[in-house]
Amino acid sequence: MKPIALVIGGTRGLGAEISKLLRATHKVYAAGRNYQSFTQFMGISREHDISYVYWDIDFDQKQNAPLHVSAFYGDIKDRDQPIDLLVYCPGFYQPSLVSELNSDDIDRMLHIGLTYPVRVIKKIIEKQNVLPGFIAVTSTSQWSPHANEPLYAAVKAGLAAFAHAVSFDPAFGRVMVAAPARMKPDQDTSKYLDPKWVAQQIVQEYQQENLKYKFMKILRDPAQVIIDPSTRYSDEKDPVKPFGFRFLPKE
Ligand SMILES: NC(=O)c1ccc[n+]([C@@H]2O[C@H](COP(=O)([O-])OP(=O)(O)OC[C@H]3O[C@@H](n4cnc5c(N)ncnc54)[C@H](OP(=O)(O)O)[C@@H]3O)[C@@H](O)[C@H]2O)c1
Repeated sequence: MKPIALVIGGTRGLGAEISKLLRATHKVYAAGRNYQSFTQFMGISREHDISYVYWDIDFDQKQNAPLHVSAFYGDIKDRDQPIDLLVYCPGFYQPSLVSELNSDDIDRMLHIGLTYPVRVIKKIIEKQNVLPGFIAVTSTSQWSPHANEPLYAAVKAGLAAFAHAVSFDPAFGRVMVAAPARMKPDQDTSKYLDPKWVAQQIVQEYQQENLKYKFMKILRDPAQVIIDPSTRYSDEKDPVKPFGFRFLPKE
């Protein structure tokens, strides 16, 4: 039986492309709010080896705990099987100067970008004690922000730091931060990244043997992947010390 991958924000866009590729190794559950856009995007029905899960993050904002996680464990066919890989992909762009943000804008971005993934992961660890795999999708904005995306940049940087920190926690197996540049699904991709190509890079890098933590920057024009030196492997003789301290080899 294949291990379970849960891709939150996996019903369209980059998350859907990741979901399709993970089918080779996992039983994939793609979570989102819209079944129609899921079937359109996937070109497959619910009965195939990728399952749609209704998951509304805005609804969970009003709850004390992420109800969708509990419901998910109830829904999966083999209830004894843990989640092997969680991919956290949802996000939305919010082009506003800080002076233009109202309190709903602030709450919504912080919730979907940072509070929610933390609460989901806490719940998963409570349920199954370990999480063998976690991929956090962030953005180049996490280190290269613009004036009109202060909160977007903040949540992406925050989620990346959270993922880096938990990679030192023995409850976590392999952890990866994937930070893509701008993608355009249907338009000219000569300057912008093709989400299919981005998904291929993410899945391929995640599958690298003995991976413990990886931070991949996925840049555009030209399209390229840069693996950050903070990346580390479980078989390293001299693993990276906590708090990101690392001896770099001499040039
Ligand atoms: N697009 C870019 O140029 C770009 C660049 C850098 C980084 N990123 C990041 O990459 C990730 C994917 O981007 P994308 O453009 O591929 O996204 P997308 O096409 O907008 O898809 C987002 C996914 O998240 C789900 N989602 C969004 N809001 C949700 C909510 N409130 N509750 C439940 N599900 C929700 C969507 O499902 P529904 O069908 O329910 O909406 C969909 O499955 C995001 O984190 C984004 O910030 C994107």
